[in-house]
Amino acid sequence: MLPVVLSAVAAASLFSTAQALSPSTKDVGNGVHIPGAIPANLNEPLQHRLAFAGPTGMTVSWSTFNQLSNPQVFYGTDPSNLDQQASSSESTTYPTSRTYNNHVKLTGLKPGTKYYYKVSYTNAPAAAYRPTYSFTTARAPGDTTPYSIAIFGDLGLMGDDGLSTRTGPIGGDNYTVIPDGAMNTIQSLLAAKDSYDFIYHTGDIAYNDYFLKESIQGYFGLAANDTQPTRGEVAEQYESLGEQFYDQMQPITAERPWLVTPGNHEANCDNGGVKDKAAHITYDSTYCMPGQTNFTGYNAHFRMPSYESGGLGNMWYSFDNGLVHYVSLTCETDLGDGLKGPIEDVNGPFGAPNQQINWLKNDLANVDRTKTPWVVVGLHRPWYTSVSPPSWPAWQQAFEKIFYDNHVDFYHQGHVHTYEFFSPMFNGSVDPRGLNNPRAPMIAVGGSAGHYDGLDQFDQTPLYNGTLTAIDTEYGWGRLTFHNRTHLTYQFIASRNGSVIDEHTLYKEHNFRKIQGQHPYTPPSNSQGGNNNAQKRSILHF
Ligand SMILES: *[C@@H]1O[C@H](CO)[C@@H](O)[C@H](O)[C@H]1NC(C)=O
Ligand SMILES: *[C@@H]1O[C@H](CO)[C@@H](O)[C@H](O)[C@H]1NC(C)=O
Ligand SMILES: *[C@@H]1O[C@H](CO)[C@@H](O)[C@H](O)[C@H]1NC(C)=O
Ligand SMILES: *[C@@H]1O[C@H](CO)[C@@H](O)[C@H](O)[C@H]1NC(C)=O
Ligand SMILES: *[C@@H]1O[C@H](CO)[C@@H](O)[C@H](O)[C@H]1NC(C)=O
Ligand SMILES: *[C@@H]1O[C@H](CO)[C@@H](O)[C@H](O)[C@H]1NC(C)=O
Ligand SMILES: *[C@@H]1O[C@H](CO)[C@@H](O)[C@H](O)[C@H]1NC(C)=O
Ligand SMILES: [Fe+2]
Repeated sequence: MLPVVLSAVAAASLFSTAQALSPSTKDVGNGVHIPGAIPANLNEPLQHRLAFAGPTGMTVSWSTFNQLSNPQVFYGTDPSNLDQQASSSESTTYPTSRTYNNHVKLTGLKPGTKYYYKVSYTNAPAAAYRPTYSFTTARAPGDTTPYSIAIFGDLGLMGDDGLSTRTGPIGGDNYTVIPDGAMNTIQSLLAAKDSYDFIYHTGDIAYNDYFLKESIQGYFGLAANDTQPTRGEVAEQYESLGEQFYDQMQPITAERPWLVTPGNHEANCDNGGVKDKAAHITYDSTYCMPGQTNFTGYNAHFRMPSYESGGLGNMWYSFDNGLVHYVSLTCETDLGDGLKGPIEDVNGPFGAPNQQINWLKNDLANVDRTKTPWVVVGLHRPWYTSVSPPSWPAWQQAFEKIFYDNHVDFYHQGHVHTYEFFSPMFNGSVDPRGLNNPRAPMIAVGGSAGHYDGLDQFDQTPLYNGTLTAIDTEYGWGRLTFHNRTHLTYQFIASRNGSVIDEHTLYKEHNFRKIQGQHPYTPPSNSQGGNNNAQKRSILHF
């Protein structure tokens, strides 16, 4: 969450002399790709990423070190006969990136259906070991089949250049050592891949921006006064750390859609401000080259379903899957009503004034809750937390009342690197009905997936009013299961062994009265396209 300033010498003493992966490391071409290394074949498809594009579409994204003139996807419902294909001309990069982001949207698919696919150059020399992957499209709204998703915030690079094997905080003395043989969160998500349909990652992805901080803190074993990387080195390593992370995620994200919301770490190379005490230097985002700021890499890597929902790029959008309507927002910029986003001085805005807020109100007002009784919101920053709770921050002022007014059932946040689960509450007041048909939304702050900095620690005694469970000693992630129209269960999974260590079931009556034909959805005039479900939606009253 917050940048923590440490004595470089004290931090350095914690670590053995690891060496950051050299950005010039190359695969030898034996069919084994080292995460973060340059492939032997520069067309080799790496870092597959999937995103729903409505219930009848899927965007397939991947990265290559060469630009592709015609990225292609071969697909079909029979793994041995990929009889359909789609292509695009979208193979784009950005300043300082070494890779190109290829995006191909498949349309006209059947909802809730498993497809197999391969992308361009999957059979090229040195890449031919890449398997045929599969994905399953979103269920049509109104499909009441139960299903689960994985949900968490704040997941970064694991391994030598990322997460240490301690729970942290880094530099502190309150930690537990994760034993050899235990799983980190990426391993845990992979092991449990068959237990969820997609990943909902509510901001802070990869933590590319940690190279500068890691260097200053001696993570790579360098002497404190030898650790002032140039802007060029920071830019190169920013990309290298990101490549490693996306490579690490590939076994999961090639087969499970990865829906993301923006977090602050997508917007700079300096961890939002990092101080080298030994050298008396404070770094800020002016040290970051173009390409490392303003969500550039984030917006290049992902293609969220904003076209389908009248949203804006990867910044805000919504989608349906079966019983649920999901809404993704940004807390970082574009809060409307003259409110300033926490990093808006040097990033954004992405839309016109009030565009996100107007879109949100319109989107929520037009959910057909006879089809999708559940409404879940993903956003990055919390307003209730037992770690240095902010006092009614701008993002709370922007969003909380809209969630309440529109009967949002559950919202998930991260940013603070702990796990905390709240009884339904609004405006600081705990809903007296608890989890039994509350009027207020239920809340999880799940920012303990893991990254270099380790975990934060609760500093409120007693804990924030409304807290049902608070864990600051375990890396973990959430599994949210929609059983039917009235019951959902949130489980917190300890990454180290995959055990469920916390569980809450919410009951909502969801007794909606539908009024036909009011407030038909009109997409904002500057959006890229309309909402496929627009005509089918109508307003509901409680
Ligand atoms: C360690 O954690 C305990 C309990 O949470 C706290 O009282 C103490 O201040 C922490 N110590 C440090 C050095 O952070
Ligand atoms: C760098 O720091 C080491 C101790 O960390 C010290 O011995 C050395 O003199 C320093 N070098 C310079 C050039 O400041
Ligand atoms: C950030 O990017 C958006 C979208 O391209 C642009 O409108 C905005 O001006 C940029 N902000 C800054 C500070 O560069
Ligand atoms: C929130 O609570 C405060 C008192 O704590 C009250 O003044 C305010 O009107 C409440 N706001 C809403 C939207 O209910
Ligand atoms: C905590 O919330 C409960 C229920 O709303 C309320 O009765 C109690 O007074 C609150 N406690 C504090 C310390 O605010
Ligand atoms: C909904 O699911 C819950 C939890 O599995 C179950 O207890 C309840 O009976 C189900 N309701 C209906 C109407 O099937
Ligand atoms: C899994 O890890 C959690 C968290 O450390 C622990 O509480 C639990 O006992 C472990 N379960 C098993 C089966 O080892
Ligand atoms: Fe964050």
